[in-house]
Amino acid sequence: MTLEIRNLEKSFGKHQQILAGISMHVNEGEFVSILGPSGSGKSTLFNLIGGLINPDSGQIILNHSVINGELGHISFMPQEHSLLPWRTVLKNILLSSEIKGKSDESLARDWLKRTGLADYENAYPHELSGGMKQRVSFLRSLLAPQSFMCMDEPFSALDEFTRLDMQQWLLSIWEEQRRSILLVTHNIDEALLLSDRIYIFSDKPAKIKEEIIVPFPRPRQKELLLTDEFTAWKRKIYSALEKEKPDESDRCSYSS
Ligand SMILES: Nc1ncnc2c1ncn2[C@@H]1O[C@H](COP(=O)(O)OP(=O)(O)OP(=O)(O)O)[C@@H](O)[C@H]1O
Ligand SMILES: [Mg+2]
Repeated sequence: MTLEIRNLEKSFGKHQQILAGISMHVNEGEFVSILGPSGSGKSTLFNLIGGLINPDSGQIILNHSVINGELGHISFMPQEHSLLPWRTVLKNILLSSEIKGKSDESLARDWLKRTGLADYENAYPHELSGGMKQRVSFLRSLLAPQSFMCMDEPFSALDEFTRLDMQQWLLSIWEEQRRSILLVTHNIDEALLLSDRIYIFSDKPAKIKEEIIVPFPRPRQKELLLTDEFTAWKRKIYSALEKEKPDESDRCSYSS
């Protein structure tokens, strides 16, 4: 599956422009990340791709068809977990595959075991910690049948060790299945470890500030994080994020 976004614009109300002409793409089997400041419009972009809201102008094109405002084309892991409170963990994970008539309980159980959630198969979301809910939500999108995945900060609620495990799983599954993935993250390490390319968003209204092609060969292991080359790229991305940031004195001058 390929995704192409052409000149997407979105405002909320008359004066709040959020996306100021975003154009980007994800190639077949590519892993692409978006890094950007909080409030810049990343989740808004995902809600547009997922068809939950409509753009003011521009096009979202999946495999050469315009899908503006259409639900169900992609596997979507939203920033808030959105688990259904009346369904058990197992039933939540199977939700999207059930809708498409392809549910596989033994595969879901297998994944629950691998992610340390085997004992919670029959628990309800309110009985889980924040990090556990996030893992369940991650498994739900992983087991969804759609071949394009959008994940909005899938690992933000996890401790460092669990996060590294989940990243490795995602990498190994992706290397095996080669689904196209678009991921939002605040974590520079995560973007560099996982992605083929990274788009860096500006502050709101969001524009693409920079596109970075990540050069590390695959398969990638977590030891990559400790190399000098990795640190050098991290520095480069950090300065791209910082570039053109208005400083505090600029901000004060607007407030009077
Ligand atoms: N439904 C809505 N109505 C009005 N304003 C909204 C709505 N959804 C988002 N916004 C505004 O759009 C801006 C961008 O929000 P968004 O959630 O897309 O940011 P983000 O880049 O995902 O931030 P974060 O990294 O903190 O998750 C914010 O100023 C937010 O208040
Ligand atoms: Mg967000």
